[in-house]
Amino acid sequence: MRKLVAGNWKMNGNRENLLEIKKVSDRFSGSDVDIIVCPPFTLLSAAKEIAANIFIGAQNLHVDNSGAYTGEISADMLEDLGVTHAIIGHSERRTECSETNDVVARKVKTALKKKLNAIICIGESEPERKENKTLSVLKEQIYGSLKDITGTENIIVAYEPIWAIGTGRTPSLAEISTTHDSIRLNLLEMYGSSASNIPILYGGSVNGLNASEIFSVANVNGALVGGASLSFDTFSPIIKAIENKT
Ligand code: 13P
Repeated sequence: MRKLVAGNWKMNGNRENLLEIKKVSDRFSGSDVDIIVCPPFTLLSAAKEIAANIFIGAQNLHVDNSGAYTGEISADMLEDLGVTHAIIGHSERRTECSETNDVVARKVKTALKKKLNAIICIGESEPERKENKTLSVLKEQIYGSLKDITGTENIIVAYEPIWAIGTGRTPSLAEISTTHDSIRLNLLEMYGSSASNIPILYGGSVNGLNASEIFSVANVNGALVGGASLSFDTFSPIIKAIENKT
């Protein structure tokens, strides 16, 4: 399984910040890790031009490929730019833009048709965690977000506990292990043995200090990184940590 680190810039970054992406691309040329940076839509084209050694991804896409959808961006447009990945169903979009599992599944289907790699986000809220519902919530999200998706190619799953995003808090390694094992089992139930090749990323307050121990967990195949992906100095230790995972 290839190792993978993705940076989600969310609504951050202007043209002056492109240098951070270029530095990552230059420094990690030839790395055995798939490095993906997902800047805002406004920077996708420029990022693609200056960062030849890494992948550039989008943070969202529309269900349809064209039409009267003011302000939206389609998979066609992303493909046209050479974008290779798209984050779909991030918890911020599930919460703030009312993206249901059903919408997520339709977006995944659209992305896959264009051979975009779909980084599908799942994760429980703090109350759900406290009520011991984490594994059942995740199972429902996995089945719902992959509804009618028949193959495992170009699928990446990112487990991001909502309460760990941007908070500096992370689950214990034992919790991450239990959760990722359960996600793998759900995927195996759905797809059989081909699901063993689906990368499962952990996301939520990953940084240069905790990355190595998080990557030591068996079914953690990489990370989806928010804040720490915004600068070369904070992102590169995370990439080095996964490079060292055996
Ligand atoms: P942080 O790494 O800032 O906690 O964000 C995680 C995230 O939401 C990535 O998609």
